[in-house]
Amino acid sequence: MSVQSLGYMGFTVTDVAAWSTFLTNKIGLEQVETNDDSALFRLDSRAWRIAVEKGKNDDLAFAGFEVANLSALEEITEKLKSAGFEVETGNTELAKKRRVVDLIRVNDPFGLPLEIYSGPTEVPEAPFVSPTGVSGFLTGDQGLGHFIRNVPDIEKTLEFYTTYLGFKLSDRIDMKFGPDITVPLHFLHCNGRHHTLAVASMPMPLRIQHFMFEMDSLDDVGYAYDRLDENITVTLGKHSNDHMISFYAETPSGFEVECGWGGRIVDENWTYVRHDKISAWGHKFVRKLG
Ligand SMILES: [Fe+2]
Repeated sequence: MSVQSLGYMGFTVTDVAAWSTFLTNKIGLEQVETNDDSALFRLDSRAWRIAVEKGKNDDLAFAGFEVANLSALEEITEKLKSAGFEVETGNTELAKKRRVVDLIRVNDPFGLPLEIYSGPTEVPEAPFVSPTGVSGFLTGDQGLGHFIRNVPDIEKTLEFYTTYLGFKLSDRIDMKFGPDITVPLHFLHCNGRHHTLAVASMPMPLRIQHFMFEMDSLDDVGYAYDRLDENITVTLGKHSNDHMISFYAETPSGFEVECGWGGRIVDENWTYVRHDKISAWGHKFVRKLG
């Protein structure tokens, strides 16, 4: 039994107001709920997809993975429990807060809280309206997008996500940072999106290196490129593996967000390969973070 998609993400941030401005005015998400300490954002027919909560550190706080139905949730719960993982069940208050029918919580091997859930809230009665005029975000069967998980032990992490959550390897890129430094990036899928998750060991303290939104058109990405001009870290380019045309920008928390279009789909005939470069063209690193 596999998770079907990345459904939502939550971040702890030191500046909720800055994130609010960034996600609405720069990226084009719709803010649906806010107070001094937290805010929720949507980008499609779901009630929400991104949560930010005030905290002492800036990082990914939790990731929500969706399963097909309640029996799939039960099956995955049993699998995790019988393998000895500590699984929290029956937290109806949290399920209500996340606006899902039911969920479980389990930490991945390096302490990222994962919420596996069924029955998210759909609100077609309130159509998503982007404040910046983004024509749409590509979600549906492919879920919210992707994130790059930064961990000290790749094998242990890959084993967890493939064995217990049902992810499959798409490919790997051995990225050269210098003559003697090569960092392998491992890309995994759980639906047609080329990667919902990537795993790497980066010399940084955060749980993630970046996360990604896919937009409905190249023009959407182009307009976002101009809006985010001062935040750009990596210029427009095309990735070697998922063929996404994208750019990267710094969020108010120091890690990056990728905005892209045109990612290719993996199917059952997909063959695992490797690459030497992350990009076919472009993606010039123009600003170092930190
Ligand atoms: Fe990415």
